[in-house]
Amino acid sequence: MSKFIIKGQVRLSGEIEVKGAKNAALKIIPAALLSDEKITITNLPEIEDVSRSLELLEDLKAEVKISKNRCEIQVKNLDKNSLDPKFANKLRASIMFVGPILARVGEVKFSHPGGCVIGAGTRPIDLFLEGFKAMGADIKWEDGSYHLKAKKLKGCEYFFTTVSVTGTESLMMTAVLANGTTTLKNCAMEPEIKALADYLNEQGAKIKGAGTSTIIIEGVERIGAGVFDIIPDRIETGTFAIMAAATGSEIKITKCIPEHIESLLSIFKKIGIKFETGEDWIKIFKSEGFSSYSIKTHEYPGFPTDLQSPYTILATQAKGSSIIHETIYDRRLLYADMLTQMGADIIMCDPHRIVVNGPSKLYGKKLTSPDLRAGIAMIIAGLIAEGETEIDNIYQIDRGYENIDTRLRALGADIKRVEIQ
Ligand code: EPU
Repeated sequence: MSKFIIKGQVRLSGEIEVKGAKNAALKIIPAALLSDEKITITNLPEIEDVSRSLELLEDLKAEVKISKNRCEIQVKNLDKNSLDPKFANKLRASIMFVGPILARVGEVKFSHPGGCVIGAGTRPIDLFLEGFKAMGADIKWEDGSYHLKAKKLKGCEYFFTTVSVTGTESLMMTAVLANGTTTLKNCAMEPEIKALADYLNEQGAKIKGAGTSTIIIEGVERIGAGVFDIIPDRIETGTFAIMAAATGSEIKITKCIPEHIESLLSIFKKIGIKFETGEDWIKIFKSEGFSSYSIKTHEYPGFPTDLQSPYTILATQAKGSSIIHETIYDRRLLYADMLTQMGADIIMCDPHRIVVNGPSKLYGKKLTSPDLRAGIAMIIAGLIAEGETEIDNIYQIDRGYENIDTRLRALGADIKRVEIQ
């Protein structure tokens, strides 16, 4: 086990490169189960969630060859159809393996996915199950596991009563090998969904409309080999942009797609944070103070829930009051208590809303990272704070940010990774 120790109040400078998107990697790895041919993944982020996902794939007897930010996967025969809870319980995205296994071999067993505190006990999978059922799967709950069977899945019409990112991706992938046409309505529109569809289409799938709210999939017999180059992580991009603005630093963020964080950059314009963008870079300039602005998280292209906690840190440094309204998850504002201990002026209104009054001086504290995004927010808070901040449970941060300490040190941050005895 390790912890981070950060000495704050150091201005950052230089360039930081954005890694491949975690939430694209976690879908393309299980998508490899749809084909018996080889898939090569490039720009693969070296993060804990990717390692867990590849372990689950290896447990299904896939051939996996990993090298630096790249891996090759081939699943010639898929004989095993159950997800070992030893692996699946550590990873919410293990649910992404269910549809491809069901589509390829007609049967799958799995327990309720675990791995993420923001929805512990509350992150449901009802939309996935309803979708599989609409495609003809028989669903049973036996001995603490789901057991799904369908000789051959069939196309269906399905309307998502709640917009779901992994729900959309899961049903889209599963429908690729179903008989007939599937129409999915009220779909999520995140860029990672379009990237996945574009890849599958190149390998022989027939998917139309990914990136819009209606996706139509015409089932095909098989899909072939291919290369998937993972798109830049838009949450990393936004996190680094917020980090630069909140610490009053000048940073160039490279290998990113600025358009993917338009919701954040449009706020920067309103509140007085200066930046410039190019095709694949964003430069944030040093700000001499900026004003407050309230946000409400929303599905893409709205303000991402995964940037909500970093944005709260920015709000602690803004002049005025900001309401942070989390609409996607129930338990994603609990970290606010730790910021209050650091000196932030935050009022918890209800489980979904906080008011942040800024600017506040922050002081170093001993903190525990409750989840991935709150963890990175604490790093930003530590970089702003006077004195030393200690963050433990940093596995949660390593789940989604590759070598974050090394990369921040290259910008001049005083952050150390220390082994806990
Ligand atoms: N929901 C249901 N039933 C379902 C599935 C979801 O009610 O069967 C609800 C959820 O409880 C939530 C809402 O739908 O209230 C939206 O959740 P969604 O399904 O879109 O979330 P997800 O697909 O599980 C992905 C990302 C999250 C990101 C959200 C929202 C992956 C692996 N995860 O989760 O990423 O916050 O979309 O954009 O793609 C993160 O990276 O830190 C992270 C949590």
